[in-house]
Amino acid sequence: MSAHWSKHLGVGALLLASGLDVSRAEDPATLAERAGIPRPAVIAHRGASFDAPESTRASYLLARELGADYLEMDLQRTRDGVLIVLHDDTLERTTDVARKFPERKDKPVSDFTLAELKTLDAGSWFNVAHPDRARPAFDKLHILTLDQVIDIAEGNPAHRPGLYIETKVPKQFPGIERDLKHVLKARGWLQGTHKVVLQTFDKDSLVLLNKEMPQVPKVLLLWVGEGSIEPQSSVTFAESGARDKAAYYASQQPRDRAEFERWLDIAKAGGAVGTGPGAALIHGGEQSYMDLAQPWMNQLTHDKGLLVHVYAADEPEDFQKLMDAGVDGIFTNRTAELLKFYGRPAQSSVEQILGWQGY
Ligand code: G3P
Ligand code: CA
Repeated sequence: MSAHWSKHLGVGALLLASGLDVSRAEDPATLAERAGIPRPAVIAHRGASFDAPESTRASYLLARELGADYLEMDLQRTRDGVLIVLHDDTLERTTDVARKFPERKDKPVSDFTLAELKTLDAGSWFNVAHPDRARPAFDKLHILTLDQVIDIAEGNPAHRPGLYIETKVPKQFPGIERDLKHVLKARGWLQGTHKVVLQTFDKDSLVLLNKEMPQVPKVLLLWVGEGSIEPQSSVTFAESGARDKAAYYASQQPRDRAEFERWLDIAKAGGAVGTGPGAALIHGGEQSYMDLAQPWMNQLTHDKGLLVHVYAADEPEDFQKLMDAGVDGIFTNRTAELLKFYGRPAQSSVEQILGWQGY
């Protein structure tokens, strides 16, 4: 397009002329405000899970007291139909299931009743894995129900964080979207000033969440691989020769720009207000994934009228890189660090809060 024409056209018209439909796009600040989502958002990933065992009372209490905007959680359902919060498909990594139920140790959560799950120690693994952050009281932590996480969110009248709830492996739990609605409704979290965001990697679950709770903001999580964005290369980790998973993930890219855009359209059509891409972290690590929060990707997402909440970063240099790339919020295991980075430091230290809470 010539400079002559560009002088006479607005930005929107220029983008339309370039093939991008911005007719309903809003700027991210407006979109966040309308959805009632703080920007930039501090999303406490499985609670303050760097400093306390993930998805337990200690990690969620700490995240709340530090001042996180949201408590992030992965939702699953017990054999007797209770919604509980746990990340992994099985109990082996974060509990003593192998000792208590050796013959069922690799079974999914749906194989256990709530009473059985409540017998498990969900904190000792952390003390073993992270001796520098270990605390004897963590040994007494248990798996939480969704209701118990809501109790924690409601427990400090001076700061009530929102709930950022992921339907985890939703095909294993048919109807979990409706179950979730019933709990949130019963607890009064679908009205008033309560902040809830629903998230999922599963586009079908997104549609079901939108059907059940059309008024609640939703985010489609993004990944490169089966059930999500098609990769440029089908080379597996084993075939790749990569030194670790993080290096392999960092090498994985969407097939092309059109494929990335297709998933933004899926998110939009499914009723999402944003996407949740993974990020390749500067120093790698277990939560370093595909680089799906590149500046052009975030710009395209914003041009579609969608927000970007990236998972999961813990280091100031990653925070800076991701903010420079244009994201609207970050999932973090280190709530205190992200709050400090955003210039909203917590009033008390992690040490103080854990001490006051009896840990
Ligand atoms: O929900 C955002 C992020 O948590 C997605 O990854 O595996 O930690 O649930 P994951
Ligand atoms: Ca999650």
